[in-house]
Amino acid sequence: MKKQTILVTGGLGYIGSHTCIALLESDYELVIIDKLINSNISVLGRIEELTGKTVKFYNFDIRDELKVKDVLDNHPIDAVIHFAAFKSINESIEDPLLYYDNNVIGTIKLTEALQKRGIYKFIFSSSASVYGNPPKSPVSEETPRSTLNPYGATKLMVENILSDLVNANYLWKIGILRYFNPVGAHASGLIGQIPDKIPNNLMSYICLVANGDFPHVNVFGGDYNTPDGTAIRDYIHVTDLALAHVAALNKLEHQKGADVFNLGTGTGISVLELINAFEETNEIKIPYKIIDKRAGDSESVFADVSKANKILKWKTEKNLIEMCEDSWRWQKRF
Ligand code: UD1
Repeated sequence: MKKQTILVTGGLGYIGSHTCIALLESDYELVIIDKLINSNISVLGRIEELTGKTVKFYNFDIRDELKVKDVLDNHPIDAVIHFAAFKSINESIEDPLLYYDNNVIGTIKLTEALQKRGIYKFIFSSSASVYGNPPKSPVSEETPRSTLNPYGATKLMVENILSDLVNANYLWKIGILRYFNPVGAHASGLIGQIPDKIPNNLMSYICLVANGDFPHVNVFGGDYNTPDGTAIRDYIHVTDLALAHVAALNKLEHQKGADVFNLGTGTGISVLELINAFEETNEIKIPYKIIDKRAGDSESVFADVSKANKILKWKTEKNLIEMCEDSWRWQKRF
């Protein structure tokens, strides 16, 4: 059978690069478009080195319609996985237009180009941020959506646009994947999340404390109504997340319209549990101080993953120890 060719936008980013490895290992051909904003060209060589396969790569912004058209004219694309987007909550609050333009207009232009070419299989990187402050956990896909910041709003808007697209044209087959809290890195230590100077997310911050870049972790809130008083999230290993994309892609063949999946482990882990697991796994002391709650944070957010387990026939395999081990192995390279 002819190999399928997948266009991956943002394929050199954190989740994109791990997904590219999973796709190549499942024998897909890949074309990547990435404008190298939160990623680095060295990742391309590492993907090829780890898989022993070659990839077609283009460095441009997906809002560049002529260049997108050119790629679609020159490659037999069967489906698209669309990661290319900005992802910083704080930056989105400071510069919302940048986020709406890049994330929303970018997707509109991309889907317009695909439609013109008759390419209708599409997987979209969404986020648990579309649940805002969910009323209870586990959070199912049916939970009403609302957002707390422009970043989340761009994800929600794109979800709505995609659902309108499938209503307008029955040929579209769209998978919407809502990620909970991705952590970890490729077990080789060659691919991971490029650390921000001042990260917002917890695992990145823990790694920088382990590295000696910061003296301690600020734990945002110690009096939540949870067993240890700290907030609960659903941390998922990025390689498990990557495999869910392959499962979602395989399922598109037999899918009608759009379908939405939560991607998490389904297990809630508190801030202190994550810090303790990191300390025990890597044998490094992580000092912490409990400070005020962070504005907009929820007490407890973890996924109901029964739909993804059943319909995608996908389940997470990596545990908290592997998440901590792989995050630290990657961080040590910097
Ligand atoms: C945040 C985003 C969410 C995004 C997700 C992806 C908000 C409101 N939500 O979620 O949209 O999809 O990141 O990674 O920003 N914490 C500390 N100290 C720190 C950092 C975090 O105690 O230095 C706590 C937080 O209060 C939270 C937990 O750790 O309880 C996880 O925080 P974080 O990694 O920022 O993720 P989320 O808040 O779940």
